[in-house]
Amino acid sequence: MTRVRAGTATDYAAVHEVNKLAFGGEGESRLVEALRKSRYFCPKLSLVAVKDQKVVGHILFSPAVIERVVEIGKKAENNDVPVLVLAPMAVLPEFQRQGIGSQLILQGLEECKRLGFGIAILIGHPGFYPRFGFMPARARGLECIYKVSNEAFLVAELVPGALKGVQGMVRYPVEFDAVA
Ligand SMILES: CC(C)(COP(=O)(O)OP(=O)(O)OC[C@H]1O[C@@H](n2cnc3c(N)ncnc32)[C@H](O)[C@@H]1OP(=O)(O)O)[C@@H](O)C(=O)NCCC(=O)NCCS
Repeated sequence: MTRVRAGTATDYAAVHEVNKLAFGGEGESRLVEALRKSRYFCPKLSLVAVKDQKVVGHILFSPAVIERVVEIGKKAENNDVPVLVLAPMAVLPEFQRQGIGSQLILQGLEECKRLGFGIAILIGHPGFYPRFGFMPARARGLECIYKVSNEAFLVAELVPGALKGVQGMVRYPVEFDAVA
């Protein structure tokens, strides 16, 4: 059985390894470490999948914003919308295609909701994420600070109606600039 729980400091080395082996390089492992040091890091949203006491998967959600300008009276004012960006997520190659990634996303999105977030955003495989409620983000009036195709730039409403009236630029934490 695989259990998903919040990661702790004792998992850091294993999380580094999972990302390195899943992505075939250390870029994402370094990204996780940079995000962990950032002031926006939310420990409850760095989740590990554990099987037989071994960390076999990891998922991270980081707080970000949709930059939105609204008209208040005759004045245009910034009214940013808090969101979470999902990245990276990884499962050890020999444990892939066994449902562990899906379990990480489903439990991760539940935790995001519990913490009060209504919107999650990601850049990823268009064949994988729509089954969890993700849909093309540009069609919903969102834009990304990174160059990304329509198919890969995805958004999910964690709370029905959370995207109503929300359009604008998704601003990722600056730590992502190094891997974008
Ligand atoms: C993507 C990833 C986290 C999925 O984890 P997982 O445990 O294999 O996922 P699940 O077993 O729950 O679901 C399997 C589904 O993932 C999708 N999937 C897995 N790897 C994929 C890939 N490289 N490209 C496209 N889809 C992929 C498939 O749709 C598959 O469904 P299928 O078996 O019905 O064809 C894992 O494959 C991984 O670590 N990949 C390398 C790193 C990566 O690409 N991370 C995501 C960046 S967007």
